[in-house]
Amino acid sequence: MDTRPIGVFDSGLGGLTAVRSLRQILPEEQIIYFGDTARVPYGGRERETILKYARQDVRFLRSFDLKAVVIACGTISTTSLGTLQEENDLPMVGVVEPACRRALAVSEKKRVGVIATLASIRSGAYETVLRRLDPEVEVFRQSCPLFVPLVENGRFRPGDIVIETVAREYLEPLRETGIDTLILGCTHYPLLVDIIAEILGPKVTLVSAGEESAYELKRLLKSGGLWAGPAGQGGTEFYVSDRPEDFERIASVFLQEDLRHTARRIDID
Ligand code: SIN
Repeated sequence: MDTRPIGVFDSGLGGLTAVRSLRQILPEEQIIYFGDTARVPYGGRERETILKYARQDVRFLRSFDLKAVVIACGTISTTSLGTLQEENDLPMVGVVEPACRRALAVSEKKRVGVIATLASIRSGAYETVLRRLDPEVEVFRQSCPLFVPLVENGRFRPGDIVIETVAREYLEPLRETGIDTLILGCTHYPLLVDIIAEILGPKVTLVSAGEESAYELKRLLKSGGLWAGPAGQGGTEFYVSDRPEDFERIASVFLQEDLRHTARRIDID
């Protein structure tokens, strides 16, 4: 039994998709969440910049006595996971491998789509892992650079003409490829799940990278003797690098609870 907290971080609020799943499947665990809302999005940046930001994010989280870290960000996981794991002597879970495993488990036709940020698509990480796990799989990739800024600005609700137009532009070519599974390779994208599902139709199964990382963490905690068990109190602390009230507003909608005055602002530099 280990009641130390788990650190979860993202470039912004997308990592809340992992937090939501963690709270469901590991309610006894305490979570320290950091969203780098001052510098989001990471997904259009160079790998060196993403790694620099990620190191600062991890350094902040490690000011707490953590037992594990979830990199709840597709862009950091695809570009920097290995380096961060080498540099840190605590278990770190990313989103790529868990999402790829789930996608291959549910795909019957072995035609898998991946949508993610520019940096993630450029890295080829999802494709590499999918092919390593199943050399027969056909992978169709699409970067969606406008999704994160729109989500961070609260434009994720069905009926919003701007996000729906952008989503159709990105997703209609993917629908034509005949995929039966789509990895939402950026943790912000599950906030768009209704819009994405509407465009792709019921025959395409959506896999949320953030959610799958939570299941991966559960396995890791249980097998490593790190699970908090019944002694754990649960709970989440939120830290951001820019206006807490903006984060709280969207986080409240997404996590379906009143999170006003719960997030604290820190200086990540
Ligand atoms: C971003 O900051 O551009 C997106 C984060 C992610 O890839 O999950």
